[in-house]
Amino acid sequence: MNYIDLEKRYIFQTYKRVPVVFVKGKDSYLYDENGKKYLDMFSGISVSSVGYCNPKVISAAKKQLDNLIHLTNIYYSRPQVNLAMMLSTLSIKGKVFFSNSGAEANECAIKLARKFGNKDGRYEIISFENSFHGRTIATLSATGQKQFHKGFAPLVKGFKFAIFNDISSVKKMCTKKTCAVIIEPVQGESGIYPADKKFLSELRNFCREKNILLIFDEIQCGLGRTGNLFAYKSYGVIPDIITLAKSLGGGLPIGATIAKKELADIFEYGDHGSTFGGNPICCAAAEEVVKFVNNKKLLKKITGNGKFFINGLKKLQKKYPLLIKEIRGIGYMAAAELYVEGAEIVNKCLEAGLLINCTKKKTLRFLPPLTAGKNELLKVLSILENVLGKN
Ligand SMILES: Cc1ncc(COP(=O)(O)O)c(C=O)c1O
Repeated sequence: MNYIDLEKRYIFQTYKRVPVVFVKGKDSYLYDENGKKYLDMFSGISVSSVGYCNPKVISAAKKQLDNLIHLTNIYYSRPQVNLAMMLSTLSIKGKVFFSNSGAEANECAIKLARKFGNKDGRYEIISFENSFHGRTIATLSATGQKQFHKGFAPLVKGFKFAIFNDISSVKKMCTKKTCAVIIEPVQGESGIYPADKKFLSELRNFCREKNILLIFDEIQCGLGRTGNLFAYKSYGVIPDIITLAKSLGGGLPIGATIAKKELADIFEYGDHGSTFGGNPICCAAAEEVVKFVNNKKLLKKITGNGKFFINGLKKLQKKYPLLIKEIRGIGYMAAAELYVEGAEIVNKCLEAGLLINCTKKKTLRFLPPLTAGKNELLKVLSILENVLGKN
């Protein structure tokens, strides 16, 4: 069967897919239906951070699968409580709401911010230009990229877009109706733009001063990517709410919204809910993911190797100054912004057995699995050098 043709016939055509059918994954590698092996430097958009088929994650999920696949949220769930305790203790000592995806984790944060502001008529949320927060109608409205809005009007009211890394722009956007600011500490979808340390710390102070909530969307940049368990730790700035998803389940779908205790308690019984949110298998797997990532040696490796990789990309920029405009990154998040469109480079890398992504047409994005070592990063740089040389 030709799955590429069948997909076109039976599935909504919302994804511009790369023409390859993968059937197996192990560690940092994917295997296609012909047995060809590919080094994956995209980790399923930051999902497979602990590697494909991570043995600890598989074993926890299998054990849970044999005991209880689903438990409605009207009963108490041990895997949920265990994971919530772990996330709370390791972060802002708050409470957790579990959902199934990043968009839902942000929906929960947005609803919580609205309820927080409701008592004094505040509902506006400041987001940022070039941000990405999801595809549901509210998170789409919070997303600062017009191309995603086209055709879906009217969007949810009350979102404004400040300039990233510009505190004066945030101040200008702020009104008596503002209840929260939502920000990705490292903008991912738009091409890896890390926030400035000074800006995030000024933003924290401003929000505190105005009694505005600060929400960090760590869905793409959290859980080890920046070289710390949470991205906020890389900045020394503590948010009021953190949203997580993507890599949290090691490949299984789970989202989490962590809010300071006094904020979480604003929600009353019935204010929010989810049928599948906090599924026991996903929670059991997620516990192993968090344990895996919360490892000093691993985080140190990500910081060191991340710098090494970004420097390697900078060397390529020096070698190909007419092709590469800018290199950005932090930890295991990197981007090479090109002067030309990147699709052909991505295709040539694919042929050479390397998976990378191109975002915003001209930005090559690298999100290596946290399991990738120096050898694998060297291999990436060498394949890229070959491909760029032939361009
Ligand atoms: C920063 C950020 N927030 C939210 C989302 C939405 O997550 P999901 O696709 O799981 O709904 C994404 C997905 O790419 C993201 O990168």
